[in-house]
Amino acid sequence: MAFAFVLLGEGSDGQPVPMVRTVVEGDTSCPVLRDRAGATLSALAPRQRPDGGQFDQVMVCEARYPVGQPGNVQIAGLSIDLPVVARDTPRRIVLLGDSGCRGQAERKPQSCVGDGYDRMWPFGTISMEGAHDQPDLIVHVGDYNYRGTPRSIVLPRSATGYAQDLRVNVFDTGDLDDEDDEPRIPIGPAYWSQNMQGSPIPDNWANWRDDFFIPSSRLLVAAPWILNRGNHELCSRAGPGWFYLLDAGSPLLGPGRRQNACPPQTPAGWQPGAWPSSPMPFAGQPFPTEPKPPMRLRLGGLNIIAFDSSDAGDAAIYALDHYVAQYRSVAAMLAEDTTPTWIVTHRPIWGVVKKDHGVAAGDAPYGFINITQQVALATVFPNGLPPHLTAVIAGHMHRFQATGFGGRRPPQLVVGTGGMELSHVQPVPSPDDPKRPIRVPDFAGATGYVVGLSDFGAMVMRVGERGAWTSALFGTTGETLATCDSTWPGQGSGRSVCELR
Ligand SMILES: [Fe+2]
Repeated sequence: MAFAFVLLGEGSDGQPVPMVRTVVEGDTSCPVLRDRAGATLSALAPRQRPDGGQFDQVMVCEARYPVGQPGNVQIAGLSIDLPVVARDTPRRIVLLGDSGCRGQAERKPQSCVGDGYDRMWPFGTISMEGAHDQPDLIVHVGDYNYRGTPRSIVLPRSATGYAQDLRVNVFDTGDLDDEDDEPRIPIGPAYWSQNMQGSPIPDNWANWRDDFFIPSSRLLVAAPWILNRGNHELCSRAGPGWFYLLDAGSPLLGPGRRQNACPPQTPAGWQPGAWPSSPMPFAGQPFPTEPKPPMRLRLGGLNIIAFDSSDAGDAAIYALDHYVAQYRSVAAMLAEDTTPTWIVTHRPIWGVVKKDHGVAAGDAPYGFINITQQVALATVFPNGLPPHLTAVIAGHMHRFQATGFGGRRPPQLVVGTGGMELSHVQPVPSPDDPKRPIRVPDFAGATGYVVGLSDFGAMVMRVGERGAWTSALFGTTGETLATCDSTWPGQGSGRSVCELR
């Protein structure tokens, strides 16, 4: 198995840096990047493997990638043509998220083979449709690896030294992304990681390969990618693979830049088979999740800020100081550059969820997430977001949810519909007019108009003039499920940003 793709990172000079990565099973050396005529452009260098042996069978290499010129790599007997990276504004941007497959979970098991495999990856259709009109950018909003990131693990006696096996919940910052799981709002004082010593299921290459690389292999070479981090990529879950395979962090970005890695996931001094009698890993300490600062990509007439919200509690305020600082960085970026800007944040800022899965909204039959980002935004932007922030793009909720606001708050698109088992539509649509937007008063201080769908799909966005944009949500057979226009919402319009078809 061998894969290659181009991703964008933010250079230390503030300019976007395209990079090629190769991901090859069983290889021990790195390939060269060639132009389409076969001339060598550069040699790829190895990325640093995570410790622990779970990625020893795969070799990840990288190099800077040229602008305006297509490349080629020859790996494992394959000749892989790579896309052209343009310097101007992207014209056609594919959004997708929450693309993994859960497998034989206790609740809502999902087939990850055969027909289920096609269903799990609806984007082949869009890639085919796009053969005449290729995307020039692909944005993944996060959550790539579900089958390797279960909710709980059983630590064996050999790891702990206890008389009995120990079942623990893996840390996920109060994750409420799946409405069919029991809500787990309290975050708790302890941090349990599937990557601690003695774990029966440390993050590993095979799960990454099967959940992301194989099903996306066609789309991987269709356009350069912006890869955003989801909560399944926390260090307690699939974080080691995230930093090795997909995160943009790299010395290629310039002075002071490096590849990030997960910190040790076992507290210092814990010996195999001799753990403390009342284990509370990392209690009273910052949890070792390796949060990343926002990454701004200046793409001609559009800036995209990729925001790591993996550690932001959905319905319980968590790591608020960290997220206030992160949004202060966003505010500084927005203040210094008034180019139309989209923010991509895995956990939605303004999500409507099942009632018992979010912060209660008075008597309303639904709840709200993500309280941590809402409070951080209210702290950093007391007078609201600036008008050149023209879209908030998220996933995390396994459904399509589009919100337009009655004031000048930017609209939000949630596209967590890339393959994970879907959740129900919230707020529940009106039975006599199911396509009508639901008015949500007092949506973190504004009035929202929300439409939603429980269908698999990906969104294609087109950039217009002066910050305007349009988009369409495509289903698994290429049908248009919704169309959107940034100019529809606003004071007195009563419209959402999208209309269901
Ligand atoms: Fe998520």
